[in-house]
Amino acid sequence: MGNISLKGKSFLKLLDFTSEEIRYLLDLSKELKQKKKNHIAHDELKGKNIVLLFEKTSTRTRCAFEVAGYDLGMGVTYLDPNSSQMGHKESIEDTAKVLGRMYDGIEYRGFDQAIVEDLAKYSGVPVWNGLTTEFHPTQMLADILTVEENFGNAKGLKLVFMGDARNNVANSLMVISSKLGINFVACGPKENMPDEKLVETCKKIANENGSTITLSDNVEESTKDADVIYTDIWVSMGEDKSIWEKRIKLLSPYQVNKNVMANAKSNAIFLHCLPSFHDLNTTVARDIYEKYGLKEMEVTDEVFTSKQSKVFDEAENRLHTIKAVMYATLK
Ligand code: CP
Ligand code: NVA
Repeated sequence: MGNISLKGKSFLKLLDFTSEEIRYLLDLSKELKQKKKNHIAHDELKGKNIVLLFEKTSTRTRCAFEVAGYDLGMGVTYLDPNSSQMGHKESIEDTAKVLGRMYDGIEYRGFDQAIVEDLAKYSGVPVWNGLTTEFHPTQMLADILTVEENFGNAKGLKLVFMGDARNNVANSLMVISSKLGINFVACGPKENMPDEKLVETCKKIANENGSTITLSDNVEESTKDADVIYTDIWVSMGEDKSIWEKRIKLLSPYQVNKNVMANAKSNAIFLHCLPSFHDLNTTVARDIYEKYGLKEMEVTDEVFTSKQSKVFDEAENRLHTIKAVMYATLK
């Protein structure tokens, strides 16, 4: 890891990083996690300031960036979906130029990948992608850290994404799997598969790293002997509510339930980026229940609350991995 430096670089998508750079970020995350657990101060970025620009809502990503920023000794400004001029009254380019004059780094969560790429192009400071329509790259560092905490090494494992396999989380999981030599399976209906070009790119990278990328609509075949079963909500932020009915019909066969987990390896783990619709304790879930009669969606409550479920370790790891990304690009 000695000669890797990511200083000044943006973290926009995992395709921009080599396998060694991703490895470096994961190792740095482990080191920073240890420091945090042992109460060893690591406020080495004192005097720097960052801004968190959110055009969509968030719990984990916002809190992880904010706490990581404070732990590193930085000043943090949070701009919520309604309180900046960006988009309505000021272009992305102008916003980027202004923020780049005041801040040392910018986090962006929102819509098109092109927006976060433009923020990086025009701001002149590192920009970190906190989720776009196409990708969610900081999430995958936390996911793989969690996988490594459970299995030691992720290389050669079988990771299956169930459900809406064309969304940001599935795309980014496919990319990181290809980079780290993980066998990735997108299991869902044919009409919800990742973009063909991205699949081709990932297949090539995976091949170089000794792993495979498979697309399948067969649940039994896909989940057989899996090490990691992963799912995400069926309708992502920014999608129209009217799509729920269609998605429920299309994706219900891909729900993660006890049969799916029983078909995987006995020591398999369950991951979910969260938030999740596994019970009726949210307004959206209750609304869906009233309209379509579903009590749980992409994952059953039984699996979500089982010992195999590592979702809260995964959520905590957002903090340590996001901290590593900021530290590596700013220090
Ligand atoms: N997983 C994730 O990105 O969660 P938030 O939407 O709460 O940030
Ligand atoms: N696919 C989800 C991920 C949320 C963390 C969304 O974009 O809403």
